[in-house]
Amino acid sequence: MKIAPSSFTNQPCLIDGKAAAQEVVAAVKAAVEQEGLRPGLAVILVGDDPASAVYVRNKSRRAEECGFLSQQFSLPADTREEALLQLIARLNGDPAVHGILVQLPLPGHIDAHKVIQAIDPRKDVDGFHYENVGHLATGGLTEALVPCTPLGALFLIKQVLGESLRGLHAVVIGRSNIVGKPMASLLLQHDCTVTIVHSRTLSPEAVCRQADIVVAAVGVPGLVKADWVKPGAVVIDVGINRIDQPGGDTRLVGDVDFDGVKTVASAITPVPGGVGPMTIAMLMQNTLNAARRSRIQQATAG
Ligand code: GUN
Repeated sequence: MKIAPSSFTNQPCLIDGKAAAQEVVAAVKAAVEQEGLRPGLAVILVGDDPASAVYVRNKSRRAEECGFLSQQFSLPADTREEALLQLIARLNGDPAVHGILVQLPLPGHIDAHKVIQAIDPRKDVDGFHYENVGHLATGGLTEALVPCTPLGALFLIKQVLGESLRGLHAVVIGRSNIVGKPMASLLLQHDCTVTIVHSRTLSPEAVCRQADIVVAAVGVPGLVKADWVKPGAVVIDVGINRIDQPGGDTRLVGDVDFDGVKTVASAITPVPGGVGPMTIAMLMQNTLNAARRSRIQQATAG
């Protein structure tokens, strides 16, 4: 479904990530039934970080909802790196498992890079393995498994602007391996002119003001203010920051000053309820794709 951006006079289009995620999950579920597939997703959590535990539980639940074989491995915080690598090797060799996700961050004594590179790239549904990073960077989108959050953000951008983003200026704020860099690659693949703004950029607000599309992914609450945004721009807020409230409560806010920017943007994602739900939906999509590719590979090998 494409939604039209409103005129930018005080009536921005609020991009509903929850509804879009439901749409993606429903399509995945329907494909699983129609194609007679049983995608398998293994999610590994090491340690007892409460936020990670919630994310992992949500991923496993969503996988079950999609009709996947969903396995969750919860390992103690003092798990040895070698034991984690052995589990990954076992899952790499299990034909019922098409996707393996190790929730990050990992405890400090475990080398996250080594762990991620140990995952079979065909099962790397996070899209973090160098092989997938390389495919994305060189334009091999059909071979790549692409990181879920940028995929979700792109889905929302296309809902507003349509399939063609040709010639639009996109400014990505943040240069992380999980969001900023793959987001920039994806937008480049879609013929945008792409600028990455980061902590050492001179006059980030002036660069950002040139953008038709702004994607903020830095983890700085309310960084992007109304005067950073060109009237009519589409603003995607990837930030999820928990901030303290008076009285001891906490609240989730994004990297965008929502109340200010909504008066300038033509379309904007809220936090929560914007990009967040899309990440898990795209994980389901990636796992389905991995299962499809595995079936094709088995058919051609046999
Ligand atoms: N921790 C925060 N975001 C992510 C993600 O997208 N994938 C994994 N594996 N861990 C995360």
